[in-house]
This record gives sequence, C-alpha cells and structure tokens, in this order.
Amino acid sequence: MKIIVSDYIEPDLRWEQEQLAGAGVEFQGCQLKGATEDEVHARLAGAEVVIVNMVKMTRSLLKRLPSCRLIIRHGVGYDNIDLAAATECGIRVCYVPDYCREEVAEQAMMLLLLCRRRFTRQLESFEDSVRQGQWDFSKVIPVRRFSGSRAGIVGCGRIGSIVVQMLRGFGAEVMVHDPYLSERRQAELGLQTIPLEELLSTADMVTIHPSLTTETKYMIGERELRMMQPHAIIVNTARGAIVNAEALARACREKWIAGAGIDVFESEPPAETFVLRGVDNVILTPHLAWYSEDAGWSIREKIIEDIRRYLDGRPPRFPLN
Ligand SMILES: NC(=O)c1ccc[n+]([C@@H]2O[C@H](COP(=O)([O-])OP(=O)(O)OC[C@H]3O[C@@H](n4cnc5c(N)ncnc54)[C@H](O)[C@@H]3O)[C@@H](O)[C@H]2O)c1
Repeated sequence: MKIIVSDYIEPDLRWEQEQLAGAGVEFQGCQLKGATEDEVHARLAGAEVVIVNMVKMTRSLLKRLPSCRLIIRHGVGYDNIDLAAATECGIRVCYVPDYCREEVAEQAMMLLLLCRRRFTRQLESFEDSVRQGQWDFSKVIPVRRFSGSRAGIVGCGRIGSIVVQMLRGFGAEVMVHDPYLSERRQAELGLQTIPLEELLSTADMVTIHPSLTTETKYMIGERELRMMQPHAIIVNTARGAIVNAEALARACREKWIAGAGIDVFESEPPAETFVLRGVDNVILTPHLAWYSEDAGWSIREKIIEDIRRYLDGRPPRFPLN
C-alpha cells in the first residue's frame, strides 16, 4: 500500500516515516509543485493515499489515478482539488480545517492594525530616521483610533468568528456578511449578518474570510471597492482570487481606499510584474497566516491520524465528499 505526498512544506518527512514504521505502508515524499500533469501522474500513479499541499488535482489527473482511494489536503482551502471529479472517480477527499484558525485570525488582526496605524509610513519615517537620530511622526498623520471603529468581516466560519471575538477585544464595532450563517450561529455570536453593500459602505476596515468558490471568486472587485470609504482599509488572508488584485491596486493607488494588507495571491508566488508590488499603501505577506510552530506540528499529527483512520477502515476526521 503506497502513500505518496505530492508536495510538502516541512523541512523533511522523517517524522511521518517514523510514525508509520511498522504500519505496512510504503511512504514517499515528492516535491511536485509546478510540475506538469504528466510529471505529477508519473510520480503519483500507484498511490492509494495522496497527501497534497499545492499541486492541482485536476479532473484529467484524477481520472488517471485508478489506485487512488483517498486524498488528504494538507491545509484548510481545497480549491486545488476538483472535488466533483474526485467523487465521480470514487476518491474520498478530506482536509484539515482545524489546525491554524487562531494563527490566521492573528495575522488578519496584525494586518488590520498595521494598515490602520499606517505602519508602512511608520517604517519609512521611524525605522530609518530614528536610527539616524531623527524624531518625527508627521508622515504617519492621520491615524484614527482602532477602538470604536467599525470592522466588517466577510465570511464568518471557523476563522472569521475568531476574528469577531478578537476585534471585540480591541473595542471595535463588528459587522458581518455571511449569507450562510445559521440563525443559531448568529445568536451564539450575538450578531446578525448584513448585506455586503451595507458592510462595505459603512466599515472603517474590512477583513475577508470566505472559502474560494465560484461564488466568492472576485466577489471584491472595482464596484465593491468603490463602495468603501476613502479612509477604509481591507485585509485578505483567505484566498487571493476572492479580491480582484487589478482593481485593488487601482483602489489603493488612486486612494479610493486608504490601504490593504494581503497574505494570499491568485498565483503564488506572485509574478515580478504583479500589480500590487510597489503600491506603497499595501502590505504583502507570503501566505504565512497559517504559520506557527504549533500549527505546523498540529497539522502533521492530524494527517497521521487520518492515515491511521484510513488504515483502520474508519472515515477521515473531516471528509469533503
Ligand atoms: N492564509 C492562510 O494561511 C490560510 C490558512 C487557513 C485558511 N485560509 C483560508 O481562510 C478562509 C476561511 O477558512 P475557514 O476555515 O474559516 O473556512 P470556513 O469554511 O469555516 O468558513 C468560511 C465561511 O465563509 C462563508 N461564505 C461562503 N460563501 C460566502 C459568501 N459568498 N459571502 C460571505 N461569506 C461566505 C461560509 O458560510 C463560512 O461561514 C478560507 O478561504 C481558507 O482557505 C487561509
């Protein structure tokens, strides 16, 4: 029985190999991110379980993997896996939605605070100048108080609902847009979801947390950014394609909004010509919101647990089909 990892972000997979020693499985790690479909196929053919980070599991690839019975997505978003095709091929897909909720919420908060307190201007005016003996905050003006400001959360699932609590802890007034949030969950969180237009037009800051679906792709484009207030900021730690980067670059350059903090990109890493590079009121981080040492180990343990469950004939912790 072969278990093959298509691509991984860990330094190596020795720990996984040790965990599975004696389980009667052959465990192999590959680094196939950016490989052609034929190359991916050549390495994954024969695997019964595939663990995938960023490699695209397309319909045509899945059809060429007749031995595959389970795909474990190493992460929360699973937009790189054609779920409908996997189901048609009789391949079970599962994921790990519970390993980095706090980390992503913390990164969103960090970006909100950095944008709100105009950190890029602080760096420009303080970091170099303070070292050089200068003392001037004029470039940072105007900064508005975080506490008491109106924060809009788009998508209030596992991560969005932690951001709600964190924002409240900072004294912000919270508004949520999530058309799928149940009445019960709204009552638990003490809020009612509002239309996107109302949220965008009244928020001082907006943070994006839905999954990437055909419905949420480019849900924030020129029309939506133009609804926002000129002093408002937007943060995206969910998926790059939810926000149209071309429109966002224009919005930030032309000051329809005050700035943005972006952790995720439609194509990763972004090309040298990527539109948001060089926009001085945009902070970019390299899709690391998930990262902490704790989350890094947590996902490894959870994936081993799903492999053990598979070997015991039990369903995965979080099946998607
Ligand atoms: N940057 C990172 O490192 C990182 C790490 C983990 C997760 N993520 C991303 O964070 C996002 C949220 O993850 P999660 O675990 O909270 O997901 P989740 O499934 O728990 O929550 C998503 C929420 O979005 C809502 N939603 C769906 N369609 C919507 C729409 N049209 N408008 C508004 N809301 C909508 C859903 O009802 C749900 O409540 C995902 O996109 C995931 O890929 C990023």
